[in-house]
Amino acid sequence: MPKHIHVSVAWPYANGDLHVGHLAGAYLPADIFARYHRLAGNHVLMVSGSDSHGTPISVEADKRGIPARQVFEHYHERFLLAQKKIGISYDLFTHTDTENHHRVSQDFFLKLLETGCLYKETQDLMYSELEKRFLPDRYVEGECYICHYANARGDQCDNCGNLLDATKLINPRNRANPDDKLIVRTSEHFFLDLGRFEPQLIEYLDKHADHWRPQVTRFSRNFVADGLHGRPITRDIDWGIDVPLEGWEAKKLYVWFEAVIGYFAASVEWAKNIGKPDAWKDWWYNPDAQIYNFIGKDNIPFHTIIWQAELMGVNGIYNGDEDNIGVRYDAPLQLPYDVPANEFMNIEGDKFSKSRNWAIWLPDILERYQPDAIRYYVAATFPETADADFAWDGFFNRVNGELLAAWGNLVNRMLSFAYKRFEGKVPSPESLTPEDEAMIAKAEAGFEEVGGLLEAVRLREALVTAMGLVREANGYLDRREPWKRIKGDPEDAAKSVYAILRVIDNLNVLLAPYLPFMAQQVHEYLGYDGTIFGEQRIVEYREATRPHKALIYDGTNAIGRWQKRALPQGQALREPKALVVKLEPEVIDRERGLLGQPRDEREIVV
Ligand code: MF3
Ligand code: ZN
Repeated sequence: MPKHIHVSVAWPYANGDLHVGHLAGAYLPADIFARYHRLAGNHVLMVSGSDSHGTPISVEADKRGIPARQVFEHYHERFLLAQKKIGISYDLFTHTDTENHHRVSQDFFLKLLETGCLYKETQDLMYSELEKRFLPDRYVEGECYICHYANARGDQCDNCGNLLDATKLINPRNRANPDDKLIVRTSEHFFLDLGRFEPQLIEYLDKHADHWRPQVTRFSRNFVADGLHGRPITRDIDWGIDVPLEGWEAKKLYVWFEAVIGYFAASVEWAKNIGKPDAWKDWWYNPDAQIYNFIGKDNIPFHTIIWQAELMGVNGIYNGDEDNIGVRYDAPLQLPYDVPANEFMNIEGDKFSKSRNWAIWLPDILERYQPDAIRYYVAATFPETADADFAWDGFFNRVNGELLAAWGNLVNRMLSFAYKRFEGKVPSPESLTPEDEAMIAKAEAGFEEVGGLLEAVRLREALVTAMGLVREANGYLDRREPWKRIKGDPEDAAKSVYAILRVIDNLNVLLAPYLPFMAQQVHEYLGYDGTIFGEQRIVEYREATRPHKALIYDGTNAIGRWQKRALPQGQALREPKALVVKLEPEVIDRERGLLGQPRDEREIVV
């Protein structure tokens, strides 16, 4: 029975280009997982979009002296292009400034209000006399009241790492205006009453502990154990989604409150876009559906506690004073089944930093390297259990030494050989030797072995296992040596060439979630028509007042199902071209030299 798999991917702030940290943290694992499940014949819905709101966007807009909308629209467009180029196969990549997202978020807010999960409280906040507005915490700087570091930010101290209360900073100042006078003023806000979800959250975490990554469960349990306090979900800012209540015109919904709702809202939008407005229910109303949140570890509490509380709230499941008030949708919305958060990907031994430009930007490297080469290296070093490091010598070694030497050469060598020596056709031997049969059986067994690891979201291990089979295939060829045997015993050569083409056909499917572009090439060299995966397209959707652009995945998985392949004998092959481009050793120094240097944001060519 096909399953319903929802792949919810963290929404990137649209305040700068995507970099390998994004790719390693959430987007590539999500894509590999989604592609696998499509190949396995399951119903996949993979959504995300640009996180258009929040101080990260406003800070960037202020820095450039342009409106926030212009910043997010600029980067949203670049996100679409870069992710198409690297093949992140969202069914829908939209953004949080669509009318649909505004409406669904406001609806969530009202439902939570109605069920008594929100309360109002007055907060002390930093107010700027000069700008005549409340300053977001990130705009406030001052001396840390814990470690006495002089330049702590209002939300967090970069020196001791503690989360801070901006009103307690010593000698607070406005980051943008040193002459400004800051005072503490009160302001009323809505709070999500997290505390009342405690028993349900503990139960939820216990229920999933057997299949969650231990570090995600540990972090979430500690978060609950530290005490669940109400969290403000409105802000005194002017860029964001309106609070849907009279008298609240000067305030907006807090970005984290609404961004997580995007997983649901984008599913609703997707259904509408494909002309089946109820289609989202197959995942969100379906207790057998599995929702996976792919995120980086800095996002854990929002995806294991806060989003769950929002869902429990609209589902009417919480520790309330009233009796169970019943669900607010027609059926309870499903909670995430797994939150496979990745750790961080450092760069050449150092933390990512936008301000120091210690970063590897996707649009830049996509100009210089094959998308699958980047995907291969990042997947081979996924930070699934601990922080990992993107190192250019590692990239060079893995691409040349593994992807090219083991897989690319196997494919090119054997497909050219078959093409030239067997009249451009898959050979048709009468029978196979036991060794040939054994090699085919091993490759076929990969579907279960690699598939099991993929299902458990052990993506690095799944790749290692698939590459282990590639190595076995090379060893098998070294023993069978068809290029020598063809002279004395052409029938024997036909056997091993047929066997290896079948092995390549199988291994190509095993590697396809990781290497979707190369997989399509190999598929064609083997003589198949059609595409393994659907097509990615950038489209424009029209809502009532404003159109918006989105990246979509068009079409269901065509061929290449996750199962043994029976390559037809006699099938006409296509002349293969080089699969993997060999890297020159100069790449290492050139790329290292760019780190920490000023960067020009160039146009993205797709
Ligand atoms: N924009 C956030 C970040 O880049 C992630 C938001 S994920 C969401 O860290 F679920 F809240 F959308
Ligand atoms: Zn400090």
